[in-house]
Amino acid sequence: MTTHEDLALHRFRRIVFFTGAGLSAECGLPTYRGKGGIWGSYDWQDYACQRAFDRDPEKVWEFHDERRRRMGAVEPSQAHRIIAEVQRRVAGTKIVTQNIDGLHQRAGATDVSELHGSVWRIRCDCPPRAVENREVPIGARRCPACGTWRRPDIVWFEDPMQPAPIEAAIAAISECDLLISIGTSGVVFPAADLPRLAVQRGALCVEVNPEETPVSDWYSVHVRGPASASLAGFWPELDAARESAAGAGD
Ligand code: APR
Repeated sequence: MTTHEDLALHRFRRIVFFTGAGLSAECGLPTYRGKGGIWGSYDWQDYACQRAFDRDPEKVWEFHDERRRRMGAVEPSQAHRIIAEVQRRVAGTKIVTQNIDGLHQRAGATDVSELHGSVWRIRCDCPPRAVENREVPIGARRCPACGTWRRPDIVWFEDPMQPAPIEAAIAAISECDLLISIGTSGVVFPAADLPRLAVQRGALCVEVNPEETPVSDWYSVHVRGPASASLAGFWPELDAARESAAGAGD
């Protein structure tokens, strides 16, 4: 078990937070697997692959419009805010996320590599292809300029990974001195493999997850708790700073 002193921020120059759906579970968004997981109620082959979209784009858009509505309606969690605060204090902090909900950025984080894209971007065949779009529901499902179906700019099952975020993630993880994985089941590849680069480098690797995962053995520190309480336990001073800042205008 780690102590508070082991994770003192002054000890690290390059921190990576590697995050998954469990981080946003505390905001009220469902995870993908496990109890209440999205793929327990919806078959990804009908909602989350290009083949499904080609077959029935309206059905796939209805599913994603509902996800956008839910993701837009929640607030970032305490854990999202603590991660952003760590980034403000340790300049070399980067975030590598599998989440598509944009909650890291809404909590004030920058330098976020979105391995699986963002539900808040769409793309069609027009240049520049992917553009930000926050309409809920999305207005025109077909692009008014090129006439092709717009699709969410997210990495569905069977899609290739997007090169830019994966390259940024590999660079960040390969040179980090602390990697904290939070709320990911570690079963979706290639994303799940990335933390291994930090292990190979000899970084301190911490897994925050209430449950054991198939990749738990890679980590030297396991914190079997929920994201927000665990991070607040690592750095109580950050939480106190955040709360006093939030209360400053009262
Ligand atoms: N705090 C931390 N972890 C939590 C919490 C919590 N409060 N609640 C649940 N978890 C953990 C679960 O124990 C589980 O290991 O979060 C994990 C969620 O796993 P998944 O639902 O599989 O999410 P994720 O790993 O992000 O999925 C990877 O799969 O379908 C895709 O593209 C989708 O990016 C997603 C990818």
